[in-house]
Amino acid sequence: MKRPTGPLCDGCHSVNYIVQTHAVTEWNVGCEKCHGPGSAHAARPARSNIVNPARLDSVSANDACIQCHSQGQPLKNPIEGRYYDWPVGYEPGKDLKDYWRLEDHKPGETTFTHFADGTAHKNRMQGNDFVQSAMYTHGVTCFSCHDVHGTANNADLLKPANVMCLQCHGAGLANGPRAATLEAHTHHKSGSSGNECVACHMPAIQATIADVNVRAHTFRFITPAEGERLKIPSGCQGCHGDRGSAWATEQLRGWKNVSPWRVE
Ligand code: HEC
Ligand code: HEC
Ligand code: HEC
Ligand code: HEC
Ligand code: HEC
Ligand code: HEC
Ligand code: HEC
Repeated sequence: MKRPTGPLCDGCHSVNYIVQTHAVTEWNVGCEKCHGPGSAHAARPARSNIVNPARLDSVSANDACIQCHSQGQPLKNPIEGRYYDWPVGYEPGKDLKDYWRLEDHKPGETTFTHFADGTAHKNRMQGNDFVQSAMYTHGVTCFSCHDVHGTANNADLLKPANVMCLQCHGAGLANGPRAATLEAHTHHKSGSSGNECVACHMPAIQATIADVNVRAHTFRFITPAEGERLKIPSGCQGCHGDRGSAWATEQLRGWKNVSPWRVE
């Protein structure tokens, strides 16, 4: 209980943590953690002297979130004799890759941080997951879905989840899914929990902090067979676990919009 929190925690849970003096300007996720240094802006407010992540390229924009929402290591560790768990020296607008390396994962192995397929295993790993998604490579950002200044929705989503997904994924839109209706894609009735995008594309993964609900951010559909083989929470088993993965695989084989070559 007496381990120092500075190197392990404080950089992500404060603003301007100074590694030499342990001084901070603020405890909490303050404005400057995402908008960069703000004193010049406070003195003479102008667009040019503050970082707005929305005006950065999508890699740098996502980096502003990934700096805290990832497991990794500083490129140079130890720093002045101490090992840090957060990207010391990074601020929004800079390149996170110059300060931080995402935790490696070993394909085929379940580790402390990853499942065998590379999906994150712990909380606070949305960044490690999201960089694997086709959405990330197409310029979607964390704040395409979340408004960190606060909303009335779960997890500060811009809109309730399905409404938000469907803005970019409605029937007929190029981003898919390629089915005439949502129900034809999900094979569950409208109003059913099995008709929610997050049900199959963001299965809940192990939560290490009691009441924090952590969902996979790779958005990949993990098949029931893969889930069973590699011990990963999968798209169907979260709700139909009692019927076994062979049952779920059999159902998928009957769904014309799902490739039979991809259900194992
Ligand atoms: C966790 C990260 C984060 C924190 C903390 C944060 N912001 Fe932001 N802010 C963003 C992002 C991302 C955007 C751009 C996307 C958006 O508008 O949601 C933004 C946009 C803004 C904008 C522009 C809004 C617009 O309509 O163009 C203002 C103003 C702003 N933030 C002020 C603040 C202030 C003041 C604080 C502290 C009280 C703060 N932010 C804290 C991430 C953050
Ligand atoms: C300085 C570290 C830091 C940065 C930068 C940061 N976060 Fe967070 N975030 C946290 C912490 C700590 C929590 C949990 C406590 C809290 O809600 O304040 C959190 C919580 C959240 C939550 C959950 C809120 C809820 O109500 O369940 C979301 C969503 C989120 N952050 C998204 C983002 C996005 C998007 C960005 C980038 C624009 C971002 N964060 C940048 C540290 C950070
Ligand atoms: C790399 C950044 C980072 C480091 C280092 C870090 N945290 Fe966090 N922490 C976060 C983020 C981001 C969240 C919220 C998102 C999540 O849990 O998925 C969070 C969530 C939490 C929460 C839950 C807060 C809530 O309101 O739900 C607690 C408590 C917490 N952290 C404590 C700690 C402690 C104690 C340490 C040091 C042992 C630590 N953290 C190290 C980024 C970090
Ligand atoms: C801001 C627009 C936007 C939003 C909001 C959005 N998506 Fe996407 N999504 C995309 C784009 C763009 C692609 C890439 C399409 C392509 O490959 O041509 C994509 C691809 C995907 C894919 C394909 C697999 C992959 O690797 O990512 C899935 C699954 C997906 N989205 C699920 C979701 C879910 C679930 C939600 C809601 C939680 C959501 N999307 C919200 C734009 C969006
Ligand atoms: C009942 C489970 C289920 C639900 C709910 C679900 N999907 Fe899917 N989705 C799948 C399966 C299975 C695949 C095929 C995966 C594969 O072949 O790798 C898929 C594939 C996709 C793809 C990529 C292939 C394509 O057709 O372009 C996108 C995009 C997608 N889903 C988006 C969504 C969105 C958005 C929602 C919510 C509106 C949603 N899905 C709800 C099971 C589901
Ligand atoms: C395509 C939309 C989308 C994108 C992009 C996205 N998220 Fe999420 N996020 C969600 C949804 C949906 C939930 C689940 C809300 C729920 O449980 O009801 C969620 C949940 C969360 C939570 C709550 C804890 C958890 O893991 O379930 C945090 C924290 C979070 N996201 C952070 C991030 C960060 C950081 C990024 C970028 C690296 C990001 N998200 C990108 C849609 C998105
Ligand atoms: C979030 C929970 C949830 C998830 C995830 C989910 N389902 Fe369902 N499923 C339901 C519910 C609830 C019903 C009951 C009928 C309804 O609401 O449509 C159902 C009904 C069904 C039925 C028809 C009735 C029956 O029980 O025989 C089949 C088949 C089915 N699900 C297959 C799947 C498959 C395959 C997957 C994965 C691709 C899946 N479901 C994912 C909740 C879920």
